[in-house]
Amino acid sequence: MVFNENASFWAKSARDFDKQTSQDRSALVDRICSDIGQVNRVLDVGAGTGVVSRALARQVSQVDAVDLEPEMIAVARQNAVVSGLRNITFHTRSAYELCFSPRTFDAVVILNSLHVMKTPEVALREVHRVIKPSGLLVVPTYCHAETEENLKHYQQWASKSGHRSFHVFTCGDLCALITRCGFEVKEKDVVEIRYEQQARGMILGYVVASPVFRQ
Ligand SMILES: C[S@@+](CC[C@H](N)C(=O)[O-])C[C@H]1O[C@@H](n2cnc3c(N)ncnc32)[C@H](O)[C@@H]1O
Repeated sequence: MVFNENASFWAKSARDFDKQTSQDRSALVDRICSDIGQVNRVLDVGAGTGVVSRALARQVSQVDAVDLEPEMIAVARQNAVVSGLRNITFHTRSAYELCFSPRTFDAVVILNSLHVMKTPEVALREVHRVIKPSGLLVVPTYCHAETEENLKHYQQWASKSGHRSFHVFTCGDLCALITRCGFEVKEKDVVEIRYEQQARGMILGYVVASPVFRQ
């Protein structure tokens, strides 16, 4: 049994999660879709309200959306119905124990979820198990420690909102974690994501990687 390490925050946030709007975030979702392309089956880990799952469902055959928080999955399911999308399967489940056979997915996306997991390496090892050898991993993740100014800004916002990141990564830390868990980093980039409702943006590391399988 895996407990949601930040359960009350995500349960409380679920209904209002999509109210914040951001052109940068929309561009980020477009970039993820463009990098993944028109493949068969994609896994969205820490799917939240399903923003990326829905965008991907318009271009791939099947999406599996996994999130530990039942409220998030409830909102994501409702959003998919409203959008008329029938090719997303929702799983209320931990990324630490994925319910899929080895080498199932053509691509896996983990958008802004690794830093809120206490042991992200457990999730990444599971992703390594279920991704195909030819698969693509796309991991855009807030990197709050990328600059001192960004870290201060994040800490101020977190103390007001009750948000808890278990990890304040730099983009280098994020790449090192992904590499340690059996992937080769193919692309890394640092971008700023600003929400219209906020005065300042936050720094995100955009990382694309491929699994490495030893013979
Ligand atoms: C910042 S939200 C990101 C949601 C979505 N990917 C997005 O960007 O809109 C982080 C999500 O990770 C989920 N989460 C945290 N720990 C998890 C775990 N161990 N397994 C699966 N999901 C988890 C939370 O419930 C939350 O929905």
